[in-house]
Amino acid sequence: MSDAIIIDGKAIADGYLSKIKEEVSRLPTRPCLAMVLVGDNPASLLYVRYKKKYAEDLGITSFLYMLPTETKEEELIHLVEDLNNNPQVDGILVQLPLPDHISEFKIISTIRPDKDVDGFTKENIGLLALKQDCLVPCTPLGCIKLLKSVKDDISGLNAVVIGRSNIVGRPLAQLLLNENCTVTLSHSHTQNLPDLCLSADILAVAVGKPGLVKGNWIKPGAIVLDVGISYLPDKSIKGDVDFEEAIKVAQAITPVPKGVGPMTKAMLMHNTVKAYKRRRNFIEDKK
Ligand code: GUN
Repeated sequence: MSDAIIIDGKAIADGYLSKIKEEVSRLPTRPCLAMVLVGDNPASLLYVRYKKKYAEDLGITSFLYMLPTETKEEELIHLVEDLNNNPQVDGILVQLPLPDHISEFKIISTIRPDKDVDGFTKENIGLLALKQDCLVPCTPLGCIKLLKSVKDDISGLNAVVIGRSNIVGRPLAQLLLNENCTVTLSHSHTQNLPDLCLSADILAVAVGKPGLVKGNWIKPGAIVLDVGISYLPDKSIKGDVDFEEAIKVAQAITPVPKGVGPMTKAMLMHNTVKAYKRRRNFIEDKK
C-alpha cells in the first residue's frame, strides 16, 4: 500500500487566511481581538504572539494584555469585564492554562458569549451540544475542516477521539457527532485502547503524549488527526502519533508541526470576524 496523504495544514490554513483577509478588507471597520496572558509559560507566550501576528497580518486589530503570575482572580475578572463592556472589542481570548490560584471556569464564565472567540463558555458549548449556530472551539473546528479536505461526507464513519479536554477532545467529539459519525470519546481510564483505535475510520488524538499511537493501532485506510504537540529535550517537536509507522497504514494523516496547529490560528481569525459580524447583525456566511 502506498504511503498516506500528508494533510498540509499550513497550506489549508493559508487558504482560509487569504479569504479572511479579503473579507476583512471589505468590512467598514477593523475587527478587534483582545488577548490576555497570565504568567510566563513559554509555550503560551509563543502561542499568543503567533495569534497576534496572524491577526495583524489580516488587518484585525489585536491587543495583548500580559499580566504577572501573581495576578489576583478579581483583577483578571475586572479586566475581562472591561473588555466585555468595551464596544471596540469583538473577541476576547484568555490563554489557558491559568495559574493554579485562578479558577479557569470563573474566568471563562465572565467572558461575554458573543465575544467568546474560543467557544469555551457554557453558552457556546451548550449551543454546540444542541447543534445550534455558535462560536465553535478553534482546534476542533480546524480538525473538521482538515478532515473534510480529505473526505467531504464523513457521516456513518466510526470516529475515536483520544483525550477528553474541554479545549479539544469534548468539543471535537461533539462536532463529529454533529457530522453523523459514530463517536467514542476515550481517555485515561479507557480499557484496551489499541483495539478501540483499530475500529476507527477517523482517529483523533489529543493527549500530549509523544508517539502514543503506534502504527499497529491504526485501521488500514483510516484518517488520522494528530493534535498533540510536545517539545522534546532535543528541541524537536513530536505529535501523539508515531508518524513514520502511521503513514504506512493510514489513508491520510496530519503532520506535527504544520498540521492542526496552523488551522487553530486560522479558525481563531474566522471566529473573530464571525463575532464582529454577528455583533453588528451582518448577514452570516454559513461557510
Ligand atoms: N491553550 C491551549 N489551546 C488554547 C486555545 O485554543 N485557547 C486558549 N484560550 N488557550 C489555549
